[in-house]
Amino acid sequence: MKELTPEKIHQEVQERYARIADEFKIEVSGSCCDTAVADEVSIYDDALFTDFYDADTGWLPEDVTGLSLGCGDPITLANLEAGQVVLDLGSGGGIDCFIAARQVGPGGHVIGVDMTPSMLEKANRNKAKVGLDNVEFRQGQIEDLPVDSETVDVVISNCVINLSPDKAAVFRESFRALKPGGRIAVSDIVTQGRFTPEQRADMAQWTGCITGAEDAADYVAAIRAAGFTQISVRDKAHPEVELDKLTAHDGPPQVFSARVTAVKPGVSIRRSSLV
Ligand SMILES: C[S@@+](CC[C@H](N)C(=O)[O-])C[C@H]1O[C@@H](n2cnc3c(N)ncnc32)[C@H](O)[C@@H]1O
Repeated sequence: MKELTPEKIHQEVQERYARIADEFKIEVSGSCCDTAVADEVSIYDDALFTDFYDADTGWLPEDVTGLSLGCGDPITLANLEAGQVVLDLGSGGGIDCFIAARQVGPGGHVIGVDMTPSMLEKANRNKAKVGLDNVEFRQGQIEDLPVDSETVDVVISNCVINLSPDKAAVFRESFRALKPGGRIAVSDIVTQGRFTPEQRADMAQWTGCITGAEDAADYVAAIRAAGFTQISVRDKAHPEVELDKLTAHDGPPQVFSARVTAVKPGVSIRRSSLV
């Protein structure tokens, strides 16, 4: 079995998403998980990856909506307010950044972080098309965020953390970037049950947002270890189901599109309350 180092995973993930960005034409869109990968692992439920957005996306050009590679709707989960600073982990072509930018308005700011240069190029081109100037895209890894400490109100992300080789670092970095009282509102893939090392070593399945996914209980433990409270990881299709509380079952891991929220303890002070 080939050794699976964090560098190797980053490289494979970056290659896949660079290819998607470079080959993108409006008619080829979809989700992070392509059907070929899904069929290979036979644990994929088409319904996980459709009907993403409750938020209004009608105003966005097809260059943006067509390059939507998420697995959920972090925007609706985030309940953003005017004036907030939002950080999007793995911003891709920028769809969630643009919706967030419109919601936080000219007094707010949105930072999208992505490690793939071709994606950043697409996002910046899309930014010029949508004409929003309260959004910026930065190159970087979500395990080592190019963002100052305690500057962000809400961290969002759509189908990215499962791709990371070090989820604990992603949550630690999110915690560092958030202001006290800040929160995360994330859509991601999690599992009930754990993939074997052999399954994880298949890079097509990892980069397709399947076998990099963590068991929900491990995922919650990583969020808690970073310092977050009020942690909730729920099935997007059945929000009443808390995924980390599911009873263990035999057989291959079950894959879920999850809605993830958590809070950084402390009191949030809004700029508007200081004037
Ligand atoms: C499945 S796509 C999702 C893009 C976007 N969030 C969306 O909903 O369309 C994953 C994106 O995350 C980026 N990415 C994956 N792992 C990353 C990491 N460790 N650091 C920074 N970016 C990463 C990829 O380059 C890619 O653009």
